Amino acid sequence: VREELGSLHGIPLYKYFIEGWPQVEAFQARPDDLLIATYPKSGTTWLSEILDMIYHDGNVEKCRRDAIYNRVPFLEMKVPQMPSGVELLEKTPSPRLVKTHLPVQLLPTTFQDKNCKVIYMARNPKDVVISYYYFYQMAKMHPDPGTLAEFLETFMAGKVAYGSWYEHVRGWWEKKKEKQLLYLFYEDMKKDPRQEVQKILKFLGKEVSEGTVARILHHTSFQEMKKNPAANYETLPTALMDHSLSPFLRKGISGDWKNHFTVAQNERFDQHYREHMAGSDLHFQMEV
Ligand code: A3P
Repeated sequence: VREELGSLHGIPLYKYFIEGWPQVEAFQARPDDLLIATYPKSGTTWLSEILDMIYHDGNVEKCRRDAIYNRVPFLEMKVPQMPSGVELLEKTPSPRLVKTHLPVQLLPTTFQDKNCKVIYMARNPKDVVISYYYFYQMAKMHPDPGTLAEFLETFMAGKVAYGSWYEHVRGWWEKKKEKQLLYLFYEDMKKDPRQEVQKILKFLGKEVSEGTVARILHHTSFQEMKKNPAANYETLPTALMDHSLSPFLRKGISGDWKNHFTVAQNERFDQHYREHMAGSDLHFQMEV
């Protein structure tokens, strides 16, 4: 099923998703929808599981009711022989959790019109590119990633699915000036998940007991999610994701790039990063 990416308004994307785009443009948000927005490989699934647990008051059994991709439908997702993200969303009772990887300029205006809350999670680009490299190998809708050296170039050039990481994180950061958006970092979540969960609760205007917070943290730890079939994507057909090549929940750490980058690659990446983040007050922690 490997296929070259197409282009949606200048953003590289899977051709099936582009075919489904008219449905996404016609999508009607509801005021109580919560949008989870990320660049791929930035902790989307982790944040989704945390939010589903919050929405179900820490009830683990309720959060095992279905796979994460059905509990938190992926807005722009469309592949043959599976219901599209929009079709799933239309059948989902409110309040809905909605996942998207769209860059801010492509987000359908319905979310703004309905004043929906948004939580964005960003991750440092060195860990993102390594995670994405393994994901390209196991998730067969991607083109062949080539060697890591080649993939680093593709990533820096913004020629991977969803385009430039720089434009994505910066575009959503600008949007943060609106009160309805909470901007989180994967690295903060690793360092102090309790504090980040508290931030989310405050943003949502929800109060839960300490015991519930503890249950949420336990259930959404990397070890628990890795063995949870409702969270680890192992229920998808192997033709779409082959976990024997690389598991979806792969390492779940910050700083794994150090095990992959050469000194020269790191210098080149740092230089590129400085150029593309110049003038921004958005800063990333490359390790925890
Ligand atoms: P790695 O490949 O570095 O392990 P996304 O859900 O956006 O596709 O992101 C996937 C990345 O998030 C993977 O990173 C995955 O292991 C990591 N991840 C998923 N659940 C996690 C958790 N509970 N704690 C830490 N990292 C997690």
